[in-house]
Amino acid sequence: MILKDGTAVGSDAAFELVDRAAFIPARIWFDDENGRPQPIDRATEPARWRAAVEQDAPIVTQLDDGATVWPATSMNATSSASEPSLVRGMLDRLDVQPGHRVLEIGTGTGYNTALLCALAGEENVTSIEVDPVLADGARANLHAAGYRPTVITGDGAAGHRERAPFDRIIATCAVTAGHIPYAWAAQTIEHGTILSPWGTLFCNGVQVHLSADGRGRAQGRVVDSASFMRLRAQRGPFGHAGRLSDLIDAADVDTDTTTVSPSAVHAGPAAFAVGVQLADVQQSMAYDFDGEGTDELLLYHVPSESVATVHATADAAVTGKYPVRQLGPRRLWTEVETAHAWWLSRLEPRHTRFGLTISTTGQEIWLDEPGNVVRTWPAVAPSAT
Ligand SMILES: C[S@@+](CC[C@H](N)C(=O)[O-])C[C@H]1O[C@@H](n2cnc3c(N)ncnc32)[C@H](O)[C@@H]1O
Repeated sequence: MILKDGTAVGSDAAFELVDRAAFIPARIWFDDENGRPQPIDRATEPARWRAAVEQDAPIVTQLDDGATVWPATSMNATSSASEPSLVRGMLDRLDVQPGHRVLEIGTGTGYNTALLCALAGEENVTSIEVDPVLADGARANLHAAGYRPTVITGDGAAGHRERAPFDRIIATCAVTAGHIPYAWAAQTIEHGTILSPWGTLFCNGVQVHLSADGRGRAQGRVVDSASFMRLRAQRGPFGHAGRLSDLIDAADVDTDTTTVSPSAVHAGPAAFAVGVQLADVQQSMAYDFDGEGTDELLLYHVPSESVATVHATADAAVTGKYPVRQLGPRRLWTEVETAHAWWLSRLEPRHTRFGLTISTTGQEIWLDEPGNVVRTWPAVAPSAT
């Protein structure tokens, strides 16, 4: 961090200097014990608002891209101030030094931007927010707190060529497997760092930490888990689970059995590895949906209208055979079984054993070493990203 007299100090001081409360709107949503966002107004409930702001927890500042207006609520958070420990962990990992040119994607409230200003110097910080209302709010918060970084209203997927190259790029929204914007690699200096949440539709998500070569290539590893809202243009096709579940329920399909437990792939270390193989497949688990101790894992792939269900019944707990039904051109559960068998055969690697390479020719995910490629995605319209 740079003090007024030009001396640099560590990130502890930056966190002491920047007051999170100054960036949190008066009207927020804060998750209750069931994970449902509940409205809180600072004007009428100052103690509750303050308690929320002081907790190490995310604070939702926008739902449904602003279409759901406080105090109405929904489950679709589209902007939030991330929990302070996550913000801190990412900034420590980004290793911002005084004078570094930094690009942030996802300004949100401006809190992380202010921390970046404290660490690198406000003249070196560029932050991009896609939502104009949020961008205006962040600018106002930053100015009130005494910081004047460059805040751009626009799509951070394009980076910001005018102020490139950057020593550090940090995204605070998640990119989808195979679609890390190529512009980020192209706009980072040699040995510069890109830190971004990354995920698949199957499993969101992790953080990737990439080092650039200054010629448009970047490579690095999965370093931690982290669940973020997605880059706006990369959101999955949502709202189809109920329809596709009804479709398979009504269909006349045979019931098969599997020895792979649905909970073994739904979450935990296998979910990430399975998700790498089934990156465009969505899943949800309905626990005990019929009151008889039966959980249902639903898998679906919207473009091909493929769907599968696996039931963890009381019988299956005894026999180890779970009923499976599959419908559509893709046999989604069969694909999961293959991916799960691969994961077992590689000694059950955790997400941090995976790495990524991105270049103009495409994006690869590998296991342990860059040569050991697990999955590739060809470059898509490099001029657009
Ligand atoms: C988790 S919030 C950011 C939190 C923020 N860093 C803070 O400290 O308050 C993610 C933000 O990314 C923004 N976002 C999503 N897609 C974007 C894009 N393509 N370009 C720029 N911002 C984007 C969202 O509007 C949202 O405000």
